[in-house]
Amino acid sequence: MNILGIETSCDDTGIALVECDKKNCRILSNVVSSQIKVHAPYGGVVPNLAARAHLENIGLCLKQALKKAKYPKIDLIAVTNGPGLIPCLLVGVNFAKALAYAWKKPIIGINHIEGHIYANNLKNFPILCLIVSGGHTQLILMKDHGKYELIGQTRDDAVGEAFDKVAKLLGLSYPGGPIISEKAEKGNPQAFDLPRPMINTKDFDFSFSGLKTAVLYETKRKKKFSEEYINDMAASFQQAAIDVLINKTIKAAKKYKPKTIILSGGVAANQELKKQMKEIIKKELPKTQFSIPDSKLCTDNGAMIAITAYYKNKPALFKSWVKINANANLKL
Ligand code: KG4
Ligand code: ZN
Repeated sequence: MNILGIETSCDDTGIALVECDKKNCRILSNVVSSQIKVHAPYGGVVPNLAARAHLENIGLCLKQALKKAKYPKIDLIAVTNGPGLIPCLLVGVNFAKALAYAWKKPIIGINHIEGHIYANNLKNFPILCLIVSGGHTQLILMKDHGKYELIGQTRDDAVGEAFDKVAKLLGLSYPGGPIISEKAEKGNPQAFDLPRPMINTKDFDFSFSGLKTAVLYETKRKKKFSEEYINDMAASFQQAAIDVLINKTIKAAKKYKPKTIILSGGVAANQELKKQMKEIIKKELPKTQFSIPDSKLCTDNGAMIAITAYYKNKPALFKSWVKINANANLKL
């Protein structure tokens, strides 16, 4: 079965072709057009500019993806229909609807968070998923394919959003995650005593706005930042965020006893988070498997949407193109 996956929920236009059978899914092409240059001057995603860029790029991405995959016969069209920025979702959903109509193909709407989860090769259930992106920070317990229990989430900013905002405070470029982690490699994570919000609460929720505000107050005291100051602040902030993510994940794993822990979403590309999470799981939960997608599959892309569609491949879920709609607050 060949599936076309379309992703436009935020600032990446993603189109992929994936070939799936009972054993696994093979990615034939996975084209992502990034909008970093469009949003960099603003230090964050501007929804209407993102939608405009999706509109400009989506047709070209499809053309490239089809060519790379050598024009396979398409059996199903999968499109992210939420959660996300509504002007952006509407571009992808409308494009998918038009293709479904013109090509007379079935279409299925896919939840973006589910896409991030399925970027992993899911095998041993129950699985504890830590989803960390620019829009989400969630701990989800997955008992089987399609069976989710949200056990914790951020009460304010997403962790990726905090990386982006802290980068802006330090005068660094957008997106903040990659540049903060690069600077952090050269810095001292103990240089600044930053808060670890909600680290000791009994629930599995997160909060990152206080951490961001602590960095704001620290940086306000300085007129100019030296290279050393930036590196130390980046390392201290990154470590504070990692401590909270790891602490809550391990606590949830001890309670729910999953067979596997997975990490996904853009922030899962963070090397230090991956390294520290791996070490602590090995030490404290040696029987639990740990899996992270390939870095290219961590950030938004069309392949994760197409793969999810394969596991939801029930005709009852296929909709006529007339009935597919976008929902900015779509729940799992
Ligand atoms: O999943 P994603 O591509 O888009 C959303 O669904 O939000 O995640 C983007 C987020 C951005 O906030 C970006 O700063 C963050 O992922 N990110 C990172 C790294 N690479 C990307 N955060 C920390 N370390 C990284 N290496
Ligand atoms: Zn995402």
